[in-house]
Amino acid sequence: MRTIAVTASKRYNVIVGREILNDAGTIIAKSAGGQVAAIVTDDNIAMLYAERLNVALANSGYRVVQYVIPHGEHNKNANTFLSLLNFFAEHRLSHKDVVVALGGGVVGDVAGFAAACYMRGIRFVQIPTTLLAMVDSSVGGKTAINLDRGKNLAGTFYQPDAVICDVSLLSTLSDAVFHDGCAEVIKYGIIADTDLFESLKKPLNTQLEDVIARCITIKRDIVVEDEFDNGVRKLLNFGHVVGHAVELLSEYRTSHGKAIAAGMAIVTRAAARMGICEPHTLYDLLHMLHEYKLPVNTTYKADELVDACLSDKKRDGEYFHLAVPERIGKCVIKKISIEELELFIRLGQEER
Ligand SMILES: NC(=O)c1ccc[n+]([C@@H]2O[C@H](COP(=O)([O-])OP(=O)(O)OC[C@H]3O[C@@H](n4cnc5c(N)ncnc54)[C@H](O)[C@@H]3O)[C@@H](O)[C@H]2O)c1
Ligand SMILES: [Zn+2]
Repeated sequence: MRTIAVTASKRYNVIVGREILNDAGTIIAKSAGGQVAAIVTDDNIAMLYAERLNVALANSGYRVVQYVIPHGEHNKNANTFLSLLNFFAEHRLSHKDVVVALGGGVVGDVAGFAAACYMRGIRFVQIPTTLLAMVDSSVGGKTAINLDRGKNLAGTFYQPDAVICDVSLLSTLSDAVFHDGCAEVIKYGIIADTDLFESLKKPLNTQLEDVIARCITIKRDIVVEDEFDNGVRKLLNFGHVVGHAVELLSEYRTSHGKAIAAGMAIVTRAAARMGICEPHTLYDLLHMLHEYKLPVNTTYKADELVDACLSDKKRDGEYFHLAVPERIGKCVIKKISIEELELFIRLGQEER
């Protein structure tokens, strides 16, 4: 078991280990306190892990209540958010009680947003159950729901009181959801860590705890430097400008991991052609994505992708901040115009 301390607007620990769900009561009592623990989870995860968490919390003296959301991205919406607030009120949670999100990014994002808003902020703990949630969404304090006009359009920064990553919970994930998370892991290698990237050439299952802890540490370092996403945090967006366009055009039928894999490949292909990175950087990335069964392109046309990029909420007026690799382990942020983005996408899509 290892502890990664995050010192942002709130100081909290991310604990990574195996079979630590049973210790969640003790960890949560120590880091968040309170008398009532409201577990928020989805129906898939409830079946697998909610009972164990319930017992762990009850053994630490909590009165436990539980709210189960139907699984799926489309439930990360305003109705779920409002139902959660009403649920907390019905069970008379005070601002010293704790919301415990047990799930993937969907559960974490909506439960976190509800925890941030209920009584202007209640204690909040994340227990991520997907690879993506462990390495990305549970750390850093971004919470959100989707609106009819787009993903994550309402939300807030709200750091948790603790994050508990029990790596053994990943054993029940489907291959597709696991590989989605691998795209984010590969992303960390490209933006910040050559050694991490190299280690991904060995089977992930044999080094899961190390790799997850390394990704969390990279995210921690970036978040601590730029909690509110005004600078270096944009590095975490590598592959995401184009990736979000792919998700949007597919009406979210292409998964996030696959979409950002294509986005990373497109941007890196363009960077290689422009001489920003060496050809072998591109080769290494494409090879890695292939090994993890992730796509390296999309069938959408460049102008369709650019149009979709225009509705990205992270656009800065007429400009985009694009994370571009210089080599494996180092990306830079380029502020580019819409025309330059179009060039990137055109160059990045042609497989010559
Ligand atoms: N807040 C952030 O910083 C941040 C960062 C990245 C992504 N996100 C958000 O995260 C969401 C995606 O998260 P996700 O990929 O974890 O998807 P998800 O939460 O939808 O989980 C994927 C599927 O796996 C199931 N599942 C989860 N854990 C399981 C387990 N241990 N065993 C078996 N099944 C399990 C879920 O029921 C679901 O059907 C998106 O909404 C995205 O916007 C947020
Ligand atoms: Zn992502």
